[in-house]
Amino acid sequence: MSFLLQRLLFSLSFLIFSSFCLATEVSYDGRALIIDGVRKVIISGSIHYPRSTAEMWPDLIQKAKEGGLNAIETYVFWDIHEPRRREYDFEGNRDIVRFFKTIQDAGLYAILRIGPYVCAEWNYGGFPVWLHQMPGIQLRTDNEIYENEMRNFTTYIVNKIKEANLLAPQGGPIILAQIENEYGNVEGAYGEAGKRYIKWVVQLAKSLNIGVPWIMCQQGDAPLPIINTCNGYYCDDFYPDHKIPKMWTENWVGWFKDWGGLDPHRPAEDVAYSVARFFSKSGTLQNYYMYHGGTNFGRTAGGPYIVTTYDYDAPLDEYGNLRQPKWGHLKKLHEILHSMEKVLTSGERSSVKLANGVWGTTYALNDTSGCFISNTDASNDFTVSFGGNLYFVPAWSVSILPDCKNVTYNTARITTQTEIMVKKPNRAENDPEDLTWLWLPEDIEDTLDGRGTFTVPELLEQKNVTGGASDYLWYMTKVRVSKHDPMYTKHMTLRVHTKGHMLHVFFNGKHVGSNNPDTQDWEYTLEVPVIVKPSINFITLLSTTVGLTNYGDHFDTIPEGIAGGPVELVGNGNLTRNLSTNPWTYKVDLNGMEKTYWDNDKLEWRYDGIPSRSRLTWYKAIFKAPLGDDPVVVNLRGLQKGEAWVNGNSLGRFWPTKMAPSECGKCDYRGPYNPNKCTTGCGEPTQSWYHVPRSFLEADGNSLIVFEEFGGSPFSVKFATVTVGTLCVTGYHGDIVELSCPKERPILNIEFANYGNATGTCGSYHKGANDIDISSLIESACVGKTSCHIDVSKTVIGHKPPCQGSKMVVQASC
Ligand code: GAL
Repeated sequence: MSFLLQRLLFSLSFLIFSSFCLATEVSYDGRALIIDGVRKVIISGSIHYPRSTAEMWPDLIQKAKEGGLNAIETYVFWDIHEPRRREYDFEGNRDIVRFFKTIQDAGLYAILRIGPYVCAEWNYGGFPVWLHQMPGIQLRTDNEIYENEMRNFTTYIVNKIKEANLLAPQGGPIILAQIENEYGNVEGAYGEAGKRYIKWVVQLAKSLNIGVPWIMCQQGDAPLPIINTCNGYYCDDFYPDHKIPKMWTENWVGWFKDWGGLDPHRPAEDVAYSVARFFSKSGTLQNYYMYHGGTNFGRTAGGPYIVTTYDYDAPLDEYGNLRQPKWGHLKKLHEILHSMEKVLTSGERSSVKLANGVWGTTYALNDTSGCFISNTDASNDFTVSFGGNLYFVPAWSVSILPDCKNVTYNTARITTQTEIMVKKPNRAENDPEDLTWLWLPEDIEDTLDGRGTFTVPELLEQKNVTGGASDYLWYMTKVRVSKHDPMYTKHMTLRVHTKGHMLHVFFNGKHVGSNNPDTQDWEYTLEVPVIVKPSINFITLLSTTVGLTNYGDHFDTIPEGIAGGPVELVGNGNLTRNLSTNPWTYKVDLNGMEKTYWDNDKLEWRYDGIPSRSRLTWYKAIFKAPLGDDPVVVNLRGLQKGEAWVNGNSLGRFWPTKMAPSECGKCDYRGPYNPNKCTTGCGEPTQSWYHVPRSFLEADGNSLIVFEEFGGSPFSVKFATVTVGTLCVTGYHGDIVELSCPKERPILNIEFANYGNATGTCGSYHKGANDIDISSLIESACVGKTSCHIDVSKTVIGHKPPCQGSKMVVQASC
C-alpha cells in the first residue's frame, strides 16, 4: 500500500471514528424516548425562528435553557423558504441551519417539525400561495401535483439538515422530526383520498432516512414506528398505543389574538398543573407551544385577521423578556421533573384514590420512588392521608414529592416573583419627544384611469391573481350608461359583494366608500352612493387581504377578494345592471410597495402640509434609537391600518384602532382553561405597541416608514423601551423567596410589605384588617440591592400570625 493511500485510509477512518463518537442514537420504547441507551424526560419549548431575529436567538435559547428546558422545537415555514417555485431563501432569520446550531451550542436537543403544512397562525398555514395557482392542484390530499411539491420541499429541507450534520446520529441536536400537522383533526373531510394521502405521507417520511423517530401530532391512525402525539391544554388523558411513549407536542401556554380580540392569559398555576398531571400519568415528553411566541413580521400573520404580535402569553414575552412568575414557576417544576427522570421513565407506576378527584401516584424503582398528589377538583381543597402522612392539596393542583415524603413543589403555590413590565421613553437628552414627519401620497392615477396588467371578463379570486405577493389587488372596469337607459339617474348605488377582507371603492376617479374597518366580516356586501355620468364611468375597486386562512379542512380553497362578485349598479326604480362579467382589468399591489417606498433613497418626500386623515398615504420620520439595551417598541396609536417599516424591515401590519371588547374574562386558575378566561385589555386597542428588534436599529438616523391605508394621524407615534417596573412576591412560613431586578439594577423602593391576609394583585394590594406592616424590615433587607432573599419564617418571627394561612406579600419597584 502506498504511503499516500495509507494516509488517506487513516484520515478516512479517523473521520468515521470521530463522527461516530459524536453520534447520538435515538430510539424509543413504550415508556420514553431513549437517547444513547438512556430513557429521557424531555421538556421542550417552541421558538419559531422567523418570529424573532437571528440576533435574538442565542438569548432566547439561553433563557429557555435556564428555564429548565432540554429541547427546542420549531416548525419549518415553507412559504418563506420557497417564495417562488424552486427559488430558495435561507438568509437572515430564515437561516434554519444557524438556528439549529445555536440550539446545539447551548447544549439542547431540537425537534424539527417540517409539516410542511404548519397551521401556526401563519399566513396560509405556511403554504406558499403559488401552490394554489398550480392547475389541478389540491392541497393536503392524495393529489400528485401537491405530493410532488411536498416531496420536493420536504426532501430539500431534510438534505439541508443532513448536509449540516444536524441530525442526532450525525452528532447534531435533532432528536425527532414531524411530518404533516394535526391531519387527524380534518382527515374525515378528505374521505378515502385523505387516507391514501396519509399512507403516502408515511412512505415519504420513511424514505427520507433521517435516523431519528418521526412523529405525527393528532394522528390516531399513524402506523408504527411513527409516533402519534397529543396537542391541547391538557394531555394527561391521552393514551397512545402502548408501544410508543406518551408525548405532548403542543401544550398551549396561552393563545393567539385576532384583530379586535382581548389578551388571553393562561395562569402559571394551570400550566404547571397540566404539566405535572401529564408526568404523573406516564407522560415523558412535553413541549410548550409557545415558549417564545414573538412577532408576525411582514405579512406572515395567518388569518384572516390574526394580529402582528404572537406573544401567546409565553414564558418569554414577545420581546424576549422573562414573563414572571410563569417562567420561574415552571423552571422550578422542570428542575424537579428532571431530577426524577429515572423513576419517571423506568419506575413502576401505581395510583390510589385519596378523596373524590384526589389521587396519589407512586413511581417505584428498586429502592427509589417518586410521588405526586393530584387534586383535580376545581373548587375544593383537601387534606389527605398518603403514605402515613397528612397533606394539604389546594383545589386544581398537583403536589410533587420526589422522595414520596416531602412536598417540594405545588403547582398552585407560586413563590417566584411577579414582574410588571413598563414602557419608558429612554430618549437622549437632546432628542425631542415628537417625531418630525414627511409624507407622500400613494400614486393611484393609473388605477383610477383603469390601467392594469391584464383584462378578463370575470371577477377573479384574489390570491389566484396575487399569488400571495401582495395584500392588495385592484379590480377595474368601465361602464357606459346612456341618458335614455331606463335605469339612468344621476344618483345610483354601486353594490359590491366581496369575500373579504377590506374594500375601497373609487368611482370616476374619486373615493366613494370603504368598508367599516371596525367590523370584521369574512364576506359582505358594500353599497355606496355614486354620481353617474351619462357616458363612460370608471369603477376602481381596491381589495385588501389581512392574512390568509391557516386552519380547517380545505382552508386553502376559501376564497378572498371580489371573487365572482357580484358587482352591480343599481339605478332608477331599482333597475340593476350586473357588471360581474364586464371586462375587468387587474393590477396586483400598490405602486409605493412595488417601488419599495419603505426602503428607497431616491424618493423626494414632502414636508409641507402633512395630512392627517388621508387614505393611502405614506409617512416617514427619522429617529434616534432609545438608549440602553432594553427591547424597543413603537406605539402606533393615532394611525389606523397599514404596515410599518424600520430601516427597511417590516414590523408587520398595524391596526391600533381595532378595539377589544369592553369586558374581560374573569380569572380563576382553577378548572379547565379556555382562551376566554383570564383575558385583559378590555376596551383597549388589540395592539398599539409594535416590536422593533434592536438589530433593526442604528444609534441615529433610523427611518420609520408607515403606509396608512384608511387615514390616520402619525403625530402621536412614539418609541419606548420595555423593562421591569414593579416586582411582587408572596411567601409562606418555611419559604425563602427572592426579589430581584433585572440587569443589575437596584431595588428602588418597597411599596407594600405585609404579613397576614393581603388581597388584590400585584400593583394593587390591600392590607387585611389585622395584618402587620413589615415594610421597614424588607426595606433594610432589600433597598439598594439588585436582589435579596427573604426567609419568611425569620422575617415574621415574633409576630403572631394575624389569621389562618397568613402569608407575606411584598411589592417593590426597580
Ligand atoms: C394547533 C396547531 C398549531 C397552532 C395551534 C394554535 O392546532 O397545530 O400550529 O395553530 O393549534 O395556536
